[in-house]
Amino acid sequence: MRFRVETGPQEVAERAADELMRVVARKPDAVLAVPTGSTPLPLYRLLASRVQAGTIDLSLVRWFALDEFFAPSLPYECTFRYVLEQELIKPCRLKESNLHSLNPLVPDPELEAARFEAAIASVGGIDLAILGVGTNGHIAFNEPGTPFHARTGLRKLDQGTILSNAHLFPPWVQAPNFGLSMGIATLLEARKVLIIATGDSKADIIARLVQHEPSPDLPASAMKMHPDATLLVDSSAAAACKTGTA
Ligand code: GLP
Repeated sequence: MRFRVETGPQEVAERAADELMRVVARKPDAVLAVPTGSTPLPLYRLLASRVQAGTIDLSLVRWFALDEFFAPSLPYECTFRYVLEQELIKPCRLKESNLHSLNPLVPDPELEAARFEAAIASVGGIDLAILGVGTNGHIAFNEPGTPFHARTGLRKLDQGTILSNAHLFPPWVQAPNFGLSMGIATLLEARKVLIIATGDSKADIIARLVQHEPSPDLPASAMKMHPDATLLVDSSAAAACKTGTA
């Protein structure tokens, strides 16, 4: 896994946008897996400003949301799909039908996971997976302990993950305990992987990730087994690292 340190979140966004645009330049209808969370927001804003300036065209890209909550009565405004529509799809003037996501309301999560895997396969697999990382090392909703061979499916969320997502829910909506997530095996099959992390709160987990051998207790470390993965962080997230390689 390559390790790149940029000055701050804006530089991380610029580097990630360059990487994304290299993929899209080669393949305008590229298949991209994308995260929610606060980390990718500067990237999405940058992409939107370039689309609005007419300097890039993302209209043919197929977007796959990495994960979603699983809660049968979740209001639409509390879903990751809604967040991606607001932060990425609308500002980049994209068609909502180009965003593929897991449905949190389904009665059978395993059937929904199989549908999603089939949708990824039907477009030829993921060209670039952009991942955030949780402070416990999760990628998408693959919490510590998730086997590396796990494909898309239902995940029990750790308490810390539930708390860190609590701001998405109004007081009358109970924060979900479960998520639906692309699997680690699914992500390892992406042709390219880019993990992004910014800010002090990620310093400890990035230092662990840099040191760690691939092991399910740190899900992001699975990406060290990927032949074309990059860990792209800002100087705050790199602050506790002792070495320059990941
Ligand atoms: C969330 C999401 C992940 C995201 C991660 C980090 O729980 N399920 O897809 O990458 O946590 O979020 P943030 O970027 O806000 O730190």
